[in-house]
Amino acid sequence: MNKNIAVIRGDGIGPEIVEQALRVLDKIAGLYGHTFTYTDADMGGCAIDKHGDPLPESELAKCLASDSVLLGAVGGNKWNDVPGHMRPEKGLLRLRAGMGVYSNNRPAKIWKQLADASPLRKEIVENGIDFIIVRELIGGIYFGEHKTEEIDGKPTAIDVLTYNEEEIERIGRIGFETAQKRNKKLCSVEKSNVLDSSRLWKKVMHRLAEEYPDVELSDMLVDNCAMQIVKNPAQFDVIVTENMFGDILSDEASMITGSIGMIPSSSLGSTTCGLYEPIHGSAPDIAGQDKANPIGTILSAAMMLRYSFDMPAEADAIENAVSAYLDAGYRTADIMSEGMTIVGCRRCGDLILENLRKE
Ligand code: IPM
Ligand code: MG
Repeated sequence: MNKNIAVIRGDGIGPEIVEQALRVLDKIAGLYGHTFTYTDADMGGCAIDKHGDPLPESELAKCLASDSVLLGAVGGNKWNDVPGHMRPEKGLLRLRAGMGVYSNNRPAKIWKQLADASPLRKEIVENGIDFIIVRELIGGIYFGEHKTEEIDGKPTAIDVLTYNEEEIERIGRIGFETAQKRNKKLCSVEKSNVLDSSRLWKKVMHRLAEEYPDVELSDMLVDNCAMQIVKNPAQFDVIVTENMFGDILSDEASMITGSIGMIPSSSLGSTTCGLYEPIHGSAPDIAGQDKANPIGTILSAAMMLRYSFDMPAEADAIENAVSAYLDAGYRTADIMSEGMTIVGCRRCGDLILENLRKE
């Protein structure tokens, strides 16, 4: 198969982690007889420096013309003082909205080799951690009006949180469908004791539940969910939640699996053209030092093959190569533990390539 992939290397550790993912994709192409063509697109801080805009139209157009987009990370202290609408992160939000990728899928799964890296007690980890957060990605407070103005003589900041029924329903359906393919348990997370948007959210989820009788729906308030994720993560199969709650809970969920550096994500809308990115940030403190963990990005590439290109065997091959690398005792600094061999970003890529074979 021929596929055109738009590649956003981005800022900080972005370029080094993306490089390793592209090496993995190239090897997959060779093993399975595919052709992957890469088109570089600028987004984030580097795009501000180069074009004066975190996502110029020309770069969004490259992404929209591709079969899918692979992204490293954006942002950094260098752009902390630019106005809100020009921040590197704004480029990412515009990309997500421009691609219409409303459904963000973030797995929280513990690799057996990394059980010791989890900050949770052993007996909690042993009960299993394997759930998915389905996060609404192009609505809510991230996309409401943002402004700061003088009200009653005081500088006042306003961020608007809006959800309409349609936006809730389409992400709700993804939640139910994801649960149908797994253990058929869906937990809808909201703050319906305080927010109108959450009350509508809950109502829509319960209406949808009638169409998915095979899925067991439960509701949970977001503050309780934050607690339950560390207390008893084994209770979760699929969590569906709004944009900002999903942002926060997915960082928490990644941490209990050992490292945020290991977690990939997929974002999809109504077409197969998806956005694939690790859930971690650009880590400017270690950028350019060959210390970053490229696995979140490599596994994001695997998700691209699985969900956008319908290449499940190729995706399995990548995941197995990562598992074999961990089995062999190699670790980047973020997941380093006693008795393991520490490696840098590139060496991690080399070792995963060595373990990559046709399934
Ligand atoms: C994420 C990130 C982004 C988000 C930032 C960089 C805008 O934290 O993908 O989780 O908040 O969505
Ligand atoms: Mg986040």
